Amino acid sequence: MTTPPSGSARLALATCAELPDLDPDDQLLRDELVGRGIPVDVAVWDDPTIDWASYQHVVVRSTWDYTERQAQFVDWTRRVEQTSELLNPADVIAWNTDKTYLADLEERGLPIVPTIWLDPATNMTSRAINSRLPAFGEFVIKPTISAGSRDTGRYDASATQQRMLAITHAKNLMAVGRHVMLQRYLRGVDTVGETGLVFLDGVFSHAVRKSALLSGPFRPADLDGALYRGEVIAPREPSAEEREVGGRVVEALADIFPGARQPFLYTRVDVIPDEEGKPVILEVELTEPSLFFQHGPGSAERAADAIAARL
Ligand SMILES: Nc1ncnc2c1ncn2[C@@H]1O[C@H](COP(=O)(O)OP(=O)(O)O)[C@@H](O)[C@H]1O
Ligand SMILES: [Mg+2]
Repeated sequence: MTTPPSGSARLALATCAELPDLDPDDQLLRDELVGRGIPVDVAVWDDPTIDWASYQHVVVRSTWDYTERQAQFVDWTRRVEQTSELLNPADVIAWNTDKTYLADLEERGLPIVPTIWLDPATNMTSRAINSRLPAFGEFVIKPTISAGSRDTGRYDASATQQRMLAITHAKNLMAVGRHVMLQRYLRGVDTVGETGLVFLDGVFSHAVRKSALLSGPFRPADLDGALYRGEVIAPREPSAEEREVGGRVVEALADIFPGARQPFLYTRVDVIPDEEGKPVILEVELTEPSLFFQHGPGSAERAADAIAARL
């Protein structure tokens, strides 16, 4: 167990109750900050005893338990921002915790994973959902608000049984008011893998390869209470094309948030090759991404420098 935050530091790294001492990756960041003589508290975002106003800066890190209560989490960020500088800002987090932001990026000409959006307000019948599913190949059903592959399933379009499971999955999500995304399963994730490009202060820092995560239809017991699915991470040298897409996202963000202090402290852009091998955006993480410091030599130092420059 970690000692409770003392409230004497001016900077807090926000985490969740399950990781009261951060995850090992963010501990590297904390150590770098402490090494610079910056006192840091690690504080649990929904702990009612924390006096957030006592911190000049709050950096969101491993707050991974918010996806089932996104509104509460966004409210918390807004409250914190009334008294502290929140990194990244609350408006950005509100936008980024719902993957419908991908549509904003697409509007700006960025390549995203082609997505069909299902709105719970339309009360879609099973037949209507079925008509949206591809006729062949594999596809993915996931909610727009999620993290760590929660509530995400992969289905074979040519297997009737799996189509039925997919329809039930989508209906169950929409029955509780959740918006649903339907995407083709991009097989490049199994070969090339997913590339996570980390930008610190808008500058490319390092990249990782993430192994494929989806093995089949969604089963409620899949995660068995875990916060996220285990993933295999390795350092990766991204292609020029992948880096370019990441850089264009950073530029688009400046356009989407003209009033926010730019560039953002951290931006992670996750891409997968599409059927032609071109990188397409699976998600952009501006809220609580793993920044994979362990896989980017010097990256925890760069992140600590970027934070120190803002204090
Ligand atoms: N269209 C897709 N094609 C292939 N794999 C996918 C697709 N959508 C999601 N996945 C897999 O599921 C994982 C989680 O999906 P993602 O969209 O990144 O949501 P989150 O990480 O927020 O849960 C990805 O890392 C990837 O392995
Ligand atoms: Mg992801």
